[in-house]
Amino acid sequence: MDVSSAVSQRISTRAFLDEPIGKQDLADWLQAAQRAPSGGNLQPWRVIVLTGGARQSVVDMAAQTLSKSPRGEPTDRPIYPEAITDTQKARRYRVGEMMYEQLDIPRDDKARRLQWFARNYRFFDAPVALFFIIDEGMGHGQWAHTGMFMQTLALLAEERGWGTCMQECWGTLRASLKSHLELGEHEMVYCGMAVGYPDREASVNQLYTERAKLNEFAEFRGF
Ligand SMILES: Cc1cc2nc3c(=O)[nH]c(=O)nc-3n(C[C@H](O)[C@H](O)[C@H](O)COP(=O)(O)O)c2cc1C
Repeated sequence: MDVSSAVSQRISTRAFLDEPIGKQDLADWLQAAQRAPSGGNLQPWRVIVLTGGARQSVVDMAAQTLSKSPRGEPTDRPIYPEAITDTQKARRYRVGEMMYEQLDIPRDDKARRLQWFARNYRFFDAPVALFFIIDEGMGHGQWAHTGMFMQTLALLAEERGWGTCMQECWGTLRASLKSHLELGEHEMVYCGMAVGYPDREASVNQLYTERAKLNEFAEFRGF
């Protein structure tokens, strides 16, 4: 597979087949993605890969924690900053509407929308779950570089016939994850990722999201 195909066919996969991926295949994949760049070559990430009982225990922990605090736990690194622009708000709204349209869940059916969203905390039933761990002292640069590592993984997954969904929703359970995953004193979860063989028939996986046109995000000078 060439890089352009991997980039254009990658989507956030939100339904998976019940088919495992072996440890060695996952190890090779992670090692390949480690070629991702990072400022000063810091490689500021650490990854925890979970399957089987280890994965299930996170799902159980999440269900228990969210039953007590449905909005999740406080964090000093919220998923979105307060100052997102109207254009960004519109994009966020649009992708949500597109997804629920695929799923045939109308806007006023809040209960079903919430139920669907809760599937995030089961990794959308993917057999493999990743957590990207970063030191609390790292700044915005290192968070961005960890994102490059994640995208490299997502593209290499395409080559393997796997699907991925990055999951920042796990940032709402940082305190519980820190203790559940036995992170170091100064470590935190940045993001999760669901990984597995995509269910290509699932309606949610038919969602192919929109992007801004070139002239909306790029300008050329001196040509
Ligand atoms: C860092 C990151 C975190 C994300 N977290 C979530 C998440 O928690 N749950 C989810 O369903 N999608 C999540 N997404 C997927 C985005 O909604 C998705 O990338 C975007 O709508 C574009 O769609 P596409 O990935 O299919 O191209 C995340 C994406 C990124 C890059």
